[in-house]
This record gives sequence, C-alpha cells and structure tokens, in this order.
Amino acid sequence: MPGTIIVAGIPGVGKTTVLQELESVAQEKHVPLRIINFGNVMNELFKKRGKTIHRDHMRREDIALQSRIQQQAARIISQTPGRSAIVVDTHMFVKTTDGIWPGTPRKVLEALDPDMIILIEADAEEIAKRRATDATRYRDGTNVEDAKADLQWSRYMASANAVLAGVPIQIVHNRDGQQRQTAIDLLDVIQKRT
Ligand code: AP5
Repeated sequence: MPGTIIVAGIPGVGKTTVLQELESVAQEKHVPLRIINFGNVMNELFKKRGKTIHRDHMRREDIALQSRIQQQAARIISQTPGRSAIVVDTHMFVKTTDGIWPGTPRKVLEALDPDMIILIEADAEEIAKRRATDATRYRDGTNVEDAKADLQWSRYMASANAVLAGVPIQIVHNRDGQQRQTAIDLLDVIQKRT
C-alpha cells in the first residue's frame, strides 16, 4: 500500500515553491509521488456548488460550509487511485472569520489516514518578508510577530494530529534561496516513511 504524507506550512513559508521543486526532484530520481493540493480540491468543490471564489477567500466563507467541503475534499483525496505515495499539501490551521480552525480535524484526519506529518518551516523574519513581497496572494498578517504566532499554531495543531493519528512529525526548513535543497530534504524524509 502506498503511504500518505501530510505536508503543511503556514502561508508565506514557501510551500508551493518547495512542492513544485519536490515534483522535479522526485521525477529526476524516479520516485513515484503524487502531490495533491487540498485547497485546490476544496476550490473545485466550491465551484461545483456555484461559488467561484479566490482560493485565499475560501477561509472567509461560512464555517459550516467550509467544514462540509473540507470533509468531502478529504474523502475524494482518500480515494485517489494508483500506486504512488501521496503527498497532501495542506494546512494545520486556517484563519477563518470565526477563529483559528483546524485544517485536519478528526474526521478529515481519519479519511486521510496519514503515515506522517511534515511541517515546512522558515525563519519568521523570512516568512514576513515573503508575505509582504508576494503580490500574487491575499495574505493576512505580514509582520514578524504574526509569522511567529502562526508557526506556533501550526506546531500545536500538528501535535494534536500526531496524537490522534499516532504518527511522527518531521520539520523541514525552507532556507532563503534554498528551495531545491529543501525539496531534496523533504523527499528523503518521505522516502524513509513510504
Ligand atoms: P494553499 O493552496 O495551501 O495556499 P497558501 O496557504 O497560500 O500556501 P501556499 O503553499 O500557496 O503558499 P506559500 O506562501 O507557502 O508558498 P509560496 O511558494 O507561494 O491553500 C489555499 C487555501 O485552501 C487556504 O487558505 C484554505 O482556505 C484552504 N485549505 C487548504 N487546506 C485546507 C484544509 N485542510 N482545511 C480547510 N481549508 C484548507 O511562497 C511565497 C513566496 O516566498 C513566493 O514569493 C516565493 O517565491 C517565495 N519563496 C519560497 N521559497 C523561498 C526560498 N527558499 N527563498 C526565497 N524565497 C522563497
């Protein structure tokens, strides 16, 4: 059975950049890997309900609706066919208008049934800089204190998830200008667990 790995990182940490590199590195090394972005699956499900919204605005929707779509997305991902290991690109928490909300609450976690949780992290100063300069996205907090608090929330949620699922957590650091090395480190960690 191929494994499922949850890869999470706070906005601005460089998750998309690193996972794009991961796709290239895995291809070069002939490692079968399927990367699925949880937000994309949710965005498609919103569209099917007639709601075409920017991915950064989904978190502002009614939380009961987000919750239904979140669970549906997890079920769809859990039915992914094939023999490749699956990397689920997601968040440990989402900042909704109701408050800080788990990205993988119990039902979602049970559906995904992960073998490991990997957190992509970076220095808070670097995250704040990336958030402030990335004009392609709608980011909430762009100062260093916001980034520090978000890094903490991510670890709190990851530890709750690890306890519920009984799986290990690994942390991979995305250093400035080192996205390829981060992807290589990430693949190493994934290969040891799948
Ligand atoms: P998602 O698609 O995961 O978006 P995100 O939070 O914005 O995270 P990204 O991975 O796209 O961005 P990033 O900032 O980490 O990385 P980037 O590479 O752009 O989620 C979208 C939405 O889906 C969520 O908001 C939520 O609503 C929903 N969602 C997802 N999962 C959910 C769940 N489980 N439950 C409920 N809702 C869920 O990098 C940022 C900048 O940094 C770029 O300018 C880049 O060039 C730069 N950079 C990156 N790496 C480096 C480096 N090493 N050195 C220098 N610069 C770098």
